[in-house]
Amino acid sequence: MSTKGIRLAHTRLSAVLRYFSNIIPAHARSAWAGIVASFWVFSLGACAASTATIPTPTLSPVESGWEVYLRVCAECHGANGEGYANELAAPALDATEHAWHHPDQQIYDWIANGKLGLGRTMPALGDQLAHNEILAVIDYLHSLWTAEQLADQQSITERYPVTLVPRQEL
Ligand code: HEC
Repeated sequence: MSTKGIRLAHTRLSAVLRYFSNIIPAHARSAWAGIVASFWVFSLGACAASTATIPTPTLSPVESGWEVYLRVCAECHGANGEGYANELAAPALDATEHAWHHPDQQIYDWIANGKLGLGRTMPALGDQLAHNEILAVIDYLHSLWTAEQLADQQSITERYPVTLVPRQEL
């Protein structure tokens, strides 16, 4: 809710509370005043809290990789990695095809530098994506595979002769 919205809601609420205190018999008014006062304190506290700076949520690697995926990859590979989203016939990246046969290092290379296939090509995306974003999107791909596929893929990744530079602290 915007600050304006909150203020408006607050003003309306005060009007309602005043209306009720007018129709309440005199002997019950002091109790009612107590309730109204505590409500004021509470609602002012809520307003103060709601105008405080909201911290940016810390996304897990898979979540931020999903964001990168939707922004950059989905137009060709489909919103859920199902592939074939346009005429470039990009393969599925989920558990149904064989993206998981490839180590992280190769996938990193294809994202950064592109991939020439037989009759189809994936463009290089390295100039659009930071190192951490590529690592995050690879983490997201991991989340699309079955536990067995992921275990096999991690084993290939560990045995691969090249090591990826770890995620960098920003
Ligand atoms: C402009 C379309 C396009 C975009 C955008 C794109 N790709 Fe591709 N991608 C392709 C095509 C086409 C292929 C198949 C190339 C081939 O046949 O070797 C491919 C192949 C791949 C492969 C190999 C799959 C396999 O089973 O061999 C991976 C992994 C992959 N892409 C990941 C990604 C990721 C991750 C992104 C986003 C960061 C992305 N791609 C963005 C078109 C695209």
